[in-house]
Order: sequence, then C-alpha cells, then structure tokens
Amino acid sequence: MEKMKAEDTIFQRMQFMNQRVSGLQAEDLYFYNQPITELHGGARVLVNGREMTMFASYSYLGLVGHPRINEAAKAAIDRYGTGTHGVRSLAGSLVLHTELEETIADFKKAEAAITYSSGYVTNLTVVSSLLGRGDYVISDKLNHASLVDGCLMSGAKFLRFRHNDMSALEERLQQIPSSATRLVIADSVFSMDGDIIDFPRLVEICRKYNAWLMIDEAHSVGVLGKSGRGIEEHFGMEDAIDIKMGTLSKTIPSVGGYVAGRKDLISFLRHASRAYIFSAALPPAQAAAAKAAFEVILDEPWRVEKLRRNAELFINGLKERGFDTLATETAIVPVVCGSDETAFAMTREVQHKDVFVLPVISPAVPPGLARLRATVTAAHEESEITQAMDIIEEAGIKIGLIGG
Ligand SMILES: Cc1ncc(COP(=O)(O)O)c(C=O)c1O
Repeated sequence: MEKMKAEDTIFQRMQFMNQRVSGLQAEDLYFYNQPITELHGGARVLVNGREMTMFASYSYLGLVGHPRINEAAKAAIDRYGTGTHGVRSLAGSLVLHTELEETIADFKKAEAAITYSSGYVTNLTVVSSLLGRGDYVISDKLNHASLVDGCLMSGAKFLRFRHNDMSALEERLQQIPSSATRLVIADSVFSMDGDIIDFPRLVEICRKYNAWLMIDEAHSVGVLGKSGRGIEEHFGMEDAIDIKMGTLSKTIPSVGGYVAGRKDLISFLRHASRAYIFSAALPPAQAAAAKAAFEVILDEPWRVEKLRRNAELFINGLKERGFDTLATETAIVPVVCGSDETAFAMTREVQHKDVFVLPVISPAVPPGLARLRATVTAAHEESEITQAMDIIEEAGIKIGLIGG
C-alpha cells in the first residue's frame, strides 16, 4: 500500500480508530459485535458461550423465533426458493411482496404501501426522491442517521430544530419562503432516548404551515397504541401523517423498510425511487415472515400490553434506584453514565453478571451523555427485569455512578 503515508488523512483516520479499538480490547472494554450463537426462548440468548438475559433487543414484542412466523418463512422458501429474480420492476416481484404491502397498508390504516430492502435505504431513497434543490426539509436534531443522510442526499435546504421543541420548529417554518415546498421529519420514538415526539402539536404546526409530515416509526410499531399500530393510535389521531415510514427489522422480526400513505404517493415512489428501481426485492422468506408478524401483532394483543407493563416496571425501578433515564416512556431505556469510560465499565460489570446490555457513546449521543442503552421487551418476565435492575444497581454502586 504505497499510499499509506503518515500524512495521508485516510491512513490517519484508520489508525486513530484502530488504536482506539485495540486499547479497549486490551482492557476488556470492547463490546462491539458480540456473537449470539443460540436463542434459548423468552429473553434468554447464548452469547459467546454464556447464557444471558437479553436487554439490548429491538424485538420489542418478543417475536424473534415465533413459531407461526418461522413457519411462514420456511413455507416461502419451499415455494419460491431463497432469492428473487432481481429488482421488482424486472423479474423480482412476487405475489408475496404485494400481499406484504397490502398487509402493511391495512395495519397502518393507509391506502397503500411500498417496501424496500432496509429501513436505512427507505429513508435515503424516500426523502431524496421527494425533495430536490429549492425545497426545504426540517428535521428534529435527534432524528436517526438514515433520515439525516436522506436529507443531505436530497439537495434540499436542510434545517434542524431543537429536539422535540415545537416552538423551535415553528420558528424554522417561519423562516421559509411561503412559496417553497417543505417537509417536516421526525422519529416517533427517539432511538437513543426513548422519548415520544410531541405529535399533536407537530401535526397542528405542519397543517398551519402547509408542510408535508414524514414520521419514522421504527421504534413505535408494536410499542405505541393499544393494538401496537403506532403513534397515531397512541394519540387517537387518524390520517395525521403524510409519509408513514417504518422498518421490518425491529418489532417485525425480518429485514426491510416501508412507507405507507396515499395511493398517489406510493405510485410515485414505485416509479421514481432509486432504491426500488435499482435494488433487488426482499427475499421471499423475509417478506413472508414480515407479513406473518403484522398478523401476529393483531392476533396476540397481550404482547403489546405486557410490553407496556414491563417498560413501566423497568423505567420506574431504575429511577427509584437513583439512575437518570432521561425522558423515556417506552421500551428504550437509557441509563445515563456520563463519560464513555463509565459506560464501558458499567457494561463490563453488568455483562459479567449475564445481563446483556450495550453502551452507546459519542458521537451517537452528545459527549457527557454516554449510557447503557437498555431495552425491555414483551419476552421478559417480571423476575428477570427485577434481577437485571438489581445487577445494574450493584454495578452503579461499585463504579460510583449512584450512592450505596
Ligand atoms: C429510527 C430508525 N430509523 C431507521 C433505522 C434503520 O432501519 P434498519 O435497521 O431496518 O435499516 C433505524 C435502525 O436502527 C432506526 O432506529
């Protein structure tokens, strides 16, 4: 590698990152990509040969490994094989894809839906297909990276507003020329903090300023609303979102992303979004698993209720033990540690007691707000949650994060 000179910035970036990784590995503080080797049922997993209770899962309703969903995936493989014949518009469209999109549209109470190969790609392609130069996109400061990347890729003027602050959003909208097209984007539940967007005010402001509204429901499907349909159901509002985006990789135990909305929006995306036109369709097993999962959510409503109870127990219990859990009200529960080192040390202590949690550090969260990013699911039993909280408390006392 001729080019690897000390003054080369690519080389320096690589060296900086790789030295940080080896330093953490040497101190037993490296928790990246730990392999899960088996699912043991409920919230139990085998990680690196140790049975642990999973507190880092996005499978909020505990649907990974659900027999009906597994069966649907196996039957799809038997019928169609493991791949498609290419992109949807050429030869890759299966009846399964249409059925999945109809199921999503029904679930989200929308006229139609379109699917893509990941949630990340969905946000990139949808925002950049809808907007271009001269348009405006206004985004909450804590929106997911895929939304930020979609905004940057679109070429539209990119404005951000203070996290979950509707007066700041309104100020931004007032700065935009009245003739300009404007799209407001927010997560429904924020992926690092677990708090819920002030949806009623957000909708009111978008209507007042004639702005399109796109909501990323990655962390609210299956979590919010009595039947788990998401943020509109939670606030008892219908038809409030123009572009209802979600993933098939969290509550839905598959992979992929979708947008649901009006027929004319979905038809436009089907003919204009590059990730639909130039990238292969979801594999049959994943499409079938996703479809079955939406059906299971509606057929087993106890899961949504159990998740709600578990989240309440976990958040209140951690607060009572002296931890700062920010403004979460959902299944994502940050346990604020402060420095990256404290977050790493907490993770090590807790994992050594067989509770699987992971740290999140800057730049994913602001410096000084490093945390354990714990998640609770419907697969947890109350006793497992209490035991995990006791272990986190013991670690917090040992490290000096909370008083003894
Ligand atoms: C809010 C949000 N949007 C989008 C994505 C991307 O989804 P996927 O993992 O399906 O690509 C994520 C993933 O973590 C997310 O948290």
